[in-house]
Amino acid sequence: MDSLAGKVAIITGAASGIGRATALSLAARGTSILVADINADAAKTVAGEIETAGGDAIAQPCDITCDNAFEALKDKALDRFGRVDIVMNNAGGLTRGLPEHVPLDEWRRVLDVNLLSVVRSNLAFLPLLIAQGSGHIVNTASFAGLMTYAFDRLAYSASKAAVVQISEGLALYLRPKGIGVTVLCPGPVKTNIMASLRTFGPPTDTRGPGPAFDLMEPAEVGEQVADAILANSFMLPTHAQIRDHLIDRAGDWDGFIDRQIADPHIVARAADA
Ligand SMILES: NC(=O)c1ccc[n+]([C@@H]2O[C@H](COP(=O)([O-])OP(=O)(O)OC[C@H]3O[C@@H](n4cnc5c(N)ncnc54)[C@H](O)[C@@H]3O)[C@@H](O)[C@H]2O)c1
Repeated sequence: MDSLAGKVAIITGAASGIGRATALSLAARGTSILVADINADAAKTVAGEIETAGGDAIAQPCDITCDNAFEALKDKALDRFGRVDIVMNNAGGLTRGLPEHVPLDEWRRVLDVNLLSVVRSNLAFLPLLIAQGSGHIVNTASFAGLMTYAFDRLAYSASKAAVVQISEGLALYLRPKGIGVTVLCPGPVKTNIMASLRTFGPPTDTRGPGPAFDLMEPAEVGEQVADAILANSFMLPTHAQIRDHLIDRAGDWDGFIDRQIADPHIVARAADA
């Protein structure tokens, strides 16, 4: 995409964290924003922040687990702005528990929020973007979808790995049609995501990716997303260490697993978590 000025973006989970930061970054570069979130009040606040800063935004409550949610977002954007250029499938949720403790219903919930929401979005928006022969899709996955550093968040990692794969397939399909695809794979970012964390089974030590990964400010991620759309780049890992870990794993996958077991990067003991 040559410029973000005059474009229209729909961002789910835009009331907080990475979604909000991206909304602010795109708006500052002239994009009109549909702030979509299950938290209607917080979505209104973000739309207000954008307007106060001189941008153009509306808030729209939505639950991405509803089958018609994305059709409603599309209708709202076309009604208010007359076009859709950028779709960012960003809202997501986290769950924690040992593999033998996370129940099937929780797996279904996490896959519904993190994975099937992307499928719903594709069904609603691909016909429109393909017909206009332009646009950009940003799917928020996670570095947890590229490499596994913890065994107590498998539903989350699996859902995000699936988002990476779907995104790569979409890039193959859509790039020749003039539509860009970016998969955002954040490392640790300072957001409210832990507030929605659900835990199953007895408390366990919480494994993290290790001290090499800084806790990044969401504003930095928002700027990275805006730049990736302009550059039409597919893979967007927020932290340089993600690439280093992937190269390390590709060279010696067994050694990568053994090194993680030996150095478990426990960031919080069960009693403190
Ligand atoms: N923060 C991190 O360290 C990190 C790392 C990797 C990936 N991510 C991913 O980034 C994305 C954004 O998360 P964040 O960290 O900004 O968290 P956040 O909690 O700050 O923001 C998530 C937003 O999504 C909204 N939301 C949740 N469920 C929804 C639903 N069903 N329908 C509509 N909106 C819903 C929430 O209300 C919230 O405003 C998620 O997909 C998350 O998995 C975050």
